[in-house]
Amino acid sequence: MQSLVTLCVLIISLMVPGQLLAGDAAAGKVKTAICATCHGKAGISTSKMTPNLAGQKEGYLQKALKNFRGGVRKDATMNTMAKRLSDDDIANIAAYYSSLNAN
Ligand code: HEC
Repeated sequence: MQSLVTLCVLIISLMVPGQLLAGDAAAGKVKTAICATCHGKAGISTSKMTPNLAGQKEGYLQKALKNFRGGVRKDATMNTMAKRLSDDDIANIAAYYSSLNAN
């Protein structure tokens, strides 16, 4: 019984990080030229209505972009932006912005 519990804990702990598709920040950076016009060159926006992306959690960025792409989260600009992104692009872009310093 004890070993069964241990096995379950092991399997679950292996599955959890797997939910986040780890991205390649360098590949993500290449895709952010257009994003930088609004979100800033280093992910810090100069507009009052545009969020900073630098230092944001990788999983959150992936979720936000997938929600924009699927139309679950509505914003005319971001819906258009996200439609052009593949799952890999999203993973890489999220890795890139989360790697930047928030300050
Ligand atoms: C024309 C300006 C513009 C461009 C270009 C743009 N964004 Fe955005 N982005 C916005 C605005 C405005 C919001 C806030 C939307 C809202 O209120 O939900 C936003 C929101 C986001 C969010 C959600 C942030 C949060 O805190 O929830 C992410 C992630 C994001 N953008 C990523 C990107 C990426 C990646 C690109 C390039 C592929 C991009 N954006 C291009 C204006 C822009």
